[in-house]
Amino acid sequence: MQPDPQTDTLERTASRFAPATARDRLMVGLDVPTVEEARAIVERTKGAVGTYKIGMQLQFAGGLAFAEELAREGHSIFLDVKLLDIDNTVMKGVENIARMGMRFVTIHAYPKAMRAAVAGLAAAGGDLCLLGVTVLTSMDEDDLHDAGYAGGVEDLVRVRAADARVSGMGGIVCSPHEVGVLREAVGPSLVTVTPGIRPAGSEAGDQKRIMTPGDAIRAGADYIVVARPVVRAPDPRAAAEAIVAEIDAAL
Ligand code: C5P
Repeated sequence: MQPDPQTDTLERTASRFAPATARDRLMVGLDVPTVEEARAIVERTKGAVGTYKIGMQLQFAGGLAFAEELAREGHSIFLDVKLLDIDNTVMKGVENIARMGMRFVTIHAYPKAMRAAVAGLAAAGGDLCLLGVTVLTSMDEDDLHDAGYAGGVEDLVRVRAADARVSGMGGIVCSPHEVGVLREAVGPSLVTVTPGIRPAGSEAGDQKRIMTPGDAIRAGADYIVVARPVVRAPDPRAAAEAIVAEIDAAL
């Protein structure tokens, strides 16, 4: 099912986490080995990016303190920790992440983990958007089968998106290929965040369900996540600006 453009616009404005500008929609993953390198990319791209995403690689190399530092400076920060643990641990973890001043955080979209995350946010307060990770964009049907799942990617993504909505999450992470069919499942209050983005001509790497920035926005993505095509570009600022221009043209 294709998203209806009018409903889609209404739904986007219905979420308090909805992006205001084309630039707001670009999330750049600081997937580099050291804080020094991440800091250099932030310096070079300042003002051209909506949110900086700090993932596993940098978290284990001083990235958590760096995330707090960037948040204190007023940057929008996405802590991509993909939490999954027992309820109490997820709840307490989210409480502390909310207190760190983060804007987005990921939780694997298992109902109990999501409900625990929502409880943690309620306890801590703050303006943190809880994002449920549906199915990783590096996984296809064969990978799900290898992991013991009987159904296909789309079936699982639909179930997890619907669970995210019922749990009270702020949004979901999914492939741009699923974002259109998910609009209905996630309803008006959830934002959609799509990694697996590749500007025309860039390498797919390990991503399997990819799309260009413009196509992802046209498909209904609120935010797009881009790491390697920006952080490995000879000129990261020019790469970010080109993506924002492509987003703008697609709106
Ligand atoms: O380099 P690339 O643009 O492929 O990076 C995508 C980023 O989005 C990575 O940091 C990856 O961990 C993250 N991500 C993803 N798929 C998800 C959730 C997060 O690729 N479902």
